[in-house]
Amino acid sequence: MKTPSTVIAALLSLFSAAVLTAQSPRIEKQPFGKTADGKQVFMYTLKNAAGMQVKITNFGGRITTVEVPDRNKKFDDVVLGFNDVQGYTTGPAAGAYFGAIIGRYANRLAHGTFTLDGHTYHIPTNEGQNTLHGGTVGFDKKIWDVKETSTHGEPALELHYLSPNGQEGFPGNLSVTVRYSLDSKNGLHLDYTATTDKDTVLNLTNHSYFNLEGAGSQTILNERIRIDADHYTPVNSTLIPTGAIEKVAGTPLDFRKSTVIGSRINDDNEQLKLAKGYDFNFVLNHPGDLSSVAVKVEDPKSGRVMEVFTTQPGVQFYTGNFLNGTVQGIGGTYGHRSALCLETQHFPDSPNQPNFPSTVLHAGQTFRSTTIYRFSTE
Ligand code: BGC
Repeated sequence: MKTPSTVIAALLSLFSAAVLTAQSPRIEKQPFGKTADGKQVFMYTLKNAAGMQVKITNFGGRITTVEVPDRNKKFDDVVLGFNDVQGYTTGPAAGAYFGAIIGRYANRLAHGTFTLDGHTYHIPTNEGQNTLHGGTVGFDKKIWDVKETSTHGEPALELHYLSPNGQEGFPGNLSVTVRYSLDSKNGLHLDYTATTDKDTVLNLTNHSYFNLEGAGSQTILNERIRIDADHYTPVNSTLIPTGAIEKVAGTPLDFRKSTVIGSRINDDNEQLKLAKGYDFNFVLNHPGDLSSVAVKVEDPKSGRVMEVFTTQPGVQFYTGNFLNGTVQGIGGTYGHRSALCLETQHFPDSPNQPNFPSTVLHAGQTFRSTTIYRFSTE
């Protein structure tokens, strides 16, 4: 027979199970300051069961923090970020796209121009004669609508933005959703979908700056990288692709075997000089294959490892060549080459490059892509 105390104990355990379920997914929402025009933005903290913590703001859909353990189970933030929205919008940080969703067109469009369905479109040029990362006011500066949700009991955040027809010169009302979710194995998933009511061009990515030793550590030059790419797209002096697709073999861009990032960065190589370091689109060998590792970064010091999986055909490997120590973030001062970006993407300037995979999104079609950044240790 059940005594009153066992009944109470059973009720208590049912109650705590209910509370736990109600707490899951673990998402916390906090104010993140106001934009220059007075709009309140928020920061959302996602935690998985293993203790990984990712913070995302609806200003630009930016990832502000990614805390993962090192080989001694010590957690550190491995992305460059700021404590409030002003950090992202003032001073030199305003032009560096820290952690942001990039659109409508990631990387460069030559002369801010392209022709589609017989019509020539003009996008504001914001880097000399070219357009970089979507124009003067790209997706990185927009306030996104947020829905808190979950996948298999782990937290997820769905960000939505409707870019009106003609915004920054691009055609079509474009509806974009970026879903950030964590899994139980310290994977951060980014699922992008988009639809348009008029043919347009589209290239979406995320511009997180990683330092596996911890944000604010001085350099990424001692970290190792492997990129599953036999080819890359060389650039001219304004970093616009020449249109060629060249072999990495025999160049300092050959990362088919894991290599220390700093070991060849100052080699006497024309492309490295033009880009002032690594800032290249690598043509992935297994586009569309989410099961194959596109990029693997290892930090010998902390033992942290990041693997990148993507359905996209390319990845921009950028070694923070334009960071110069004038930006102060959560992790400290962000100096020259103190972080790296791995922007999974379609190739830069594709709308003007007939031999690159198409970035046209037709009216009524749905664009989909997925990228996973998975953290572990060794
Ligand atoms: C580009 C760099 C650019 C940087 C700006 C990268 O995606 O490839 O050339 O300087 O973004 O933060």
